[in-house]
Amino acid sequence: MGRLSPIQGRIRELAIEKDIVILAHNYQIPEVQDIADIVGDSLILAMKATRAPQSTILFCGVDFMAESAKALSPEKRVIHPVPGSRCPMAHMVDGESLREFRKGHPGVPVVAYVNTTAETKAEVDICCTSANAVKVVASLESEKVIFVPDSNLGQYVQSQLPEKEIILWPGYCHVHNDITVEQIVGKKDEHPEALVLVHPECTPAVINVADKVASTEGMIRYARESPAGEFIIGTEEGLVYRMRKDIPDKVFIPLETAVCPNMKKIGIEDVLMALEKMGPTVELDEDIIERNRPPLERMLSLG
Ligand code: 13P
Ligand code: SF4
Repeated sequence: MGRLSPIQGRIRELAIEKDIVILAHNYQIPEVQDIADIVGDSLILAMKATRAPQSTILFCGVDFMAESAKALSPEKRVIHPVPGSRCPMAHMVDGESLREFRKGHPGVPVVAYVNTTAETKAEVDICCTSANAVKVVASLESEKVIFVPDSNLGQYVQSQLPEKEIILWPGYCHVHNDITVEQIVGKKDEHPEALVLVHPECTPAVINVADKVASTEGMIRYARESPAGEFIIGTEEGLVYRMRKDIPDKVFIPLETAVCPNMKKIGIEDVLMALEKMGPTVELDEDIIERNRPPLERMLSLG
């Protein structure tokens, strides 16, 4: 875990003393990543949340991630240090509008990106993350599939599965949607040898100029295994800290303007306070938990 500041050291002591596992998303600030037991993408964190032996999960990420951990492990206490750390895209669809939309497409299964609220997940057939979206949609027998809420990710899945008809929802991630081809080309001019790695939440035009499209964890794996030594990172800039730490012999070039303000809301003091108070906790209705488990577990069972 390397050298920790006094506040980080205290966090680690409390986590052990109170039987808490700390999970952090790849976009969290460096000080938070450094005190986590596990840092990863949405899929890894969801899997670790179900398997962790500790009685409490402290989730450093946005709201939907902490909610999914609670739905998958309802017997555990799940702490989300700053509940206002919310993914705006996850709030671009809600249960009622989705129920209405489904009426226009009877019998068509709904795939929900995990970047949705627990209320929305209660209405869907299966969930997916950016790491397994193509696999999840391919696993469905139906030729037509409704995909919510990320229209960019939905279009990427469509490009990989031309035999399917993907019905899109008009949602998007403002951070990835704002990444432009000009930005990528500008970085490429400065670093002509670098490979371009982008997240599938980017627009089709940006995806078109990429060498690799992957989830945040997929980008780390690709960079580690690639013979190339330089990479332009087309996602939220926080991932670059993790990449430089894990793969110190390679060069990672961030897009400095790609910042998710919600992912940066959790500070190291918030983590300490949450551990001391054992809250704020994530609370979901029993009915919502019951209806979230099948779509999440179906996704996890695909491996
Ligand atoms: P990953 O699951 O690829 O880490 O992505 C999560 C996310 O919020 C992307 O913006
Ligand atoms: Fe949501 Fe985009 Fe932030 Fe990810 S980067 S949490 S999708 S707003």
